[in-house]
Amino acid sequence: ITCSVESKTVVIGLAADSGCGKSTFMRRLTSVFGGAAEPPKGGNPDSNTLISDMTTVICLDDYHSLDRTGRKEKGVTALDPRANNFDLMYEQVKALKEGIAVDKPIYNHVTGLLDPPELIKPPKILVIEGLHPMYDPRVRELLDFSIYLDISNEVKFAWKIQRDMAERGHSLESIKASIETRKPDFDTYIDPQKQYADAVIEVLPTQLIPDDNEGKVLRVRLIMKEGVKFFSPVYLFDEGSTISWIPCGRKLTCSYPGIKFIYGPDTYFDNEVSVLEMDGQFDRLDELVYVESHLSNLSTKFYGEVTQQMLKHADFPGSSNGTGLFQTIIGLKIRDLYEQITSSQAAVSLEATKA
Ligand code: ADP
Ligand code: G6P
Repeated sequence: ITCSVESKTVVIGLAADSGCGKSTFMRRLTSVFGGAAEPPKGGNPDSNTLISDMTTVICLDDYHSLDRTGRKEKGVTALDPRANNFDLMYEQVKALKEGIAVDKPIYNHVTGLLDPPELIKPPKILVIEGLHPMYDPRVRELLDFSIYLDISNEVKFAWKIQRDMAERGHSLESIKASIETRKPDFDTYIDPQKQYADAVIEVLPTQLIPDDNEGKVLRVRLIMKEGVKFFSPVYLFDEGSTISWIPCGRKLTCSYPGIKFIYGPDTYFDNEVSVLEMDGQFDRLDELVYVESHLSNLSTKFYGEVTQQMLKHADFPGSSNGTGLFQTIIGLKIRDLYEQITSSQAAVSLEATKA
């Protein structure tokens, strides 16, 4: 008898509108697994894939069935299911999960065309990120964990302006127009996926500044589903209780408008959830360990690991607020989930060899 402990690929879904921080989140996640993710070596320079030792991140735009011209002609947006090939997405994610390599198409964001496919080998952890990871029930069924980044309209607008004006040279009018044209399809096809997510990161304007319209200070809520296999929600002070905490004082420097945490049980689309909320921003990241020491179930490997990760990527967007903090925490929870899944698979194969 040969005893091979083949572990299956763990599949993670990350859904969000474009320009909502998916790539930043992916950089935080791959860093938790040690090592930065790179585009495939020697391949198409416009590939959307990122590969590291442990993780492969594929962008679901690669499953566009209509290219930019095709979408224009048919009058459909990239968010419309008719512009996407869910059959192929399902077949390929399923194959990768079963350990079979696939030739995945490439959607070229520069030309707006579909390029020749690239070979994707089954990784330890496959992340599928994009507009529709939880749209098709067959694909949803393959996910071991799913995350939805829920950015409120006000905040989305501010971020899009930052990126599309500064980095892509678009005008304010064209950004406004593109958000407006996308909105109906976003509401119909993208937003409803959040009901299926195991974790939702909601990003809202602050409530600490009355009538704030600058959109710099954020209120961020981490909504964690109860009863998900291999995932136990993080909590503040005492699991299941309701707590409001202002950590500013002797141990944490806070300038105006300060920081406020709220934690407690809630319901979300008829699901029981735990919600951890942070409003405001940190002045000094090295003091974050004070907050970290009051959070439990973080799935860290040593005291202060959350703070260490945050300090390591202090230059990433969102590092001073709840977006960076909660993305880092979800990264640690995914590492924990991966370790639990692989050790349970190892236990099953051991049982099988005994029988
Ligand atoms: P996506 O991969 O979803 O298109 P990115 O991670 O590239 O999104 O982020 C797009 C832009 O949004 C960034 O350039 C940045 O300006 C802004 N952004 C993303 N995440 C944050 C954040 N947590 N806080 C502030 N701005 C952010
Ligand atoms: C979304 C999709 C992209 C698409 C973009 C613009 O962001 O994720 O794949 O390129 O919309 O779509 P357009 O049809 O204007 O090229």
